[in-house]
Amino acid sequence: MLSKVVSFGLKGIEGFPISVETDVSNGLPKFEIVGLADTAIKEAKERVRTAIKNSGYEYPNKRITLNLAPADVKKEGSLYDLAIAISILATSDKLEIKPKGYVYIGELSFDGLVKKVRGVLPLIISARKQGYKKFIVPKENAQEAGFIEGVEVYPVTSLIECVNFLKGEVMLEKIKVGKFDDVVAVSECELDFSSVKGQQRAKRALEISAAGGHNLLMIGPPGSGKSMLAKCFPSILPDLTFEEALEVTKIASIAGELDLKTGIVSKRPFRSPHHTASTVSLTGGGTNSKPGEISLAHNGVLFLDELPEYTRHSIETLRQPLEDGVITVARANATVTYPATFNLIASMNPCPCGNFGAKDRECHCTPNQIHKYLAKLSGPIMDRIDIHVEVDSVSFDDLKSEKVEESSAVIKERVDRARNIQLERFKGSKNFCNAKMSVPQTKKFCALDKTSEDILRTAFEKLKLSARAHDRILRVARTIADLEGQETILPQHIAEAIGYRSLDRKYWG
Ligand SMILES: Nc1ncnc2c1ncn2[C@@H]1O[C@H](COP(=O)(O)OP(=O)(O)O)[C@@H](O)[C@H]1O
Ligand SMILES: [Mg+2]
Repeated sequence: MLSKVVSFGLKGIEGFPISVETDVSNGLPKFEIVGLADTAIKEAKERVRTAIKNSGYEYPNKRITLNLAPADVKKEGSLYDLAIAISILATSDKLEIKPKGYVYIGELSFDGLVKKVRGVLPLIISARKQGYKKFIVPKENAQEAGFIEGVEVYPVTSLIECVNFLKGEVMLEKIKVGKFDDVVAVSECELDFSSVKGQQRAKRALEISAAGGHNLLMIGPPGSGKSMLAKCFPSILPDLTFEEALEVTKIASIAGELDLKTGIVSKRPFRSPHHTASTVSLTGGGTNSKPGEISLAHNGVLFLDELPEYTRHSIETLRQPLEDGVITVARANATVTYPATFNLIASMNPCPCGNFGAKDRECHCTPNQIHKYLAKLSGPIMDRIDIHVEVDSVSFDDLKSEKVEESSAVIKERVDRARNIQLERFKGSKNFCNAKMSVPQTKKFCALDKTSEDILRTAFEKLKLSARAHDRILRVARTIADLEGQETILPQHIAEAIGYRSLDRKYWG
């Protein structure tokens, strides 16, 4: 007897169909799996055999050969258990189940329950693109499918329930499609810019960063409020669009970090991995092939506090994602690419003691110490950070001032307006903010008049800027103009944008 059912595997965040074929023939009882299976799948033998028996079904006391096709792609994890069990049971003429037409996803426990797995959302989205419409998934994961139109998703809790459904003996209620707007309405941020006294320049820089999606570095002495400012940053970011939310949710789902109750991430991610975190936990990959912190920050914020404290290797691996918005990680016998388009917010002290360059404090470091500290950040990394801003200690008067500071809600309104201009500008293209403009787009949307051109030329020569820095200045200037609702970039916009690139000369020059 031969049977065939469909499951789905994942490579990066893309899914591919896997055909699970079972052949049961006479001969000495034996269970063999062919087709590049990792150890977790080999262990599936035991889980599936025990689950079938404990569910009260007869386990074929024959020679069972299982083929996972295509044979040349490595299959990992436990999510094929359900497909394997159904495929074996389908060879029995006593049961008469009809497994055709569904994609099966789920792990089995010894007692025959269907357990949650990672990556259900990206699997269903990929499968839908490839024409698959009906899915049987673990009940715990069902909500992940709750926002996808055009598919029928049936949640099951046990192998018995699945079999009875396929026999037509029980009905399963398919997941209802929810409205994304209903979830977004409830997301909010804890910290508000109104609690930060003074620091107008840093706040302005953060507003530009949020409006255009620009990477930003804060340099200043300890206690000046850098970490506090960074934590306020999410409160002025534009709401996630549904498309962005799906991408974020896919990654969270694969990483096993998704809140399975809501089934969707409705808030921009804010990730702040500690500087002692390993490079693999930042980039992802490794033995169990998970997205790392920088991918979990996709479409959100990656906050690296005290940037020079991270290992040089970790800092340098940021180069590819900062440029391309993706990270490629090598695995034992393959490479995987995960999305990693994040808004980098970094902070640092200017030297080991923290006071170098501060207005009214004395620095005790030797020039050599300062140099060594700053050298942790290479030119190519600094070049990829569009906005550099000094944050000096808040003055006593500012701190004690009764003046009401602008709230995040007011700043966010301006950010939203600037973002809407960009959404219109980039309609139909892949990016949706100024910071991610391609080179041709930068040419097209950042044209300068003669005066602005002259300002930029002078700065370019005086500050010895790279071509990359040149383009990034143009993009920041574009955002500053958008915040003002100006169609053309004016000299004051370009001048302000250049101002955010003069610090590398002051400290590193
Ligand atoms: N501008 C400010 N307004 C109000 N409180 C501030 C300000 N700057 C610093 N603080 C206070 O000082 C604390 C330390 O700031 P922090 O953000 O940790 O500084 P840094 O990261 O620069 O070392 C904050 O938690 C906050 O209580
Ligand atoms: Mg800090």
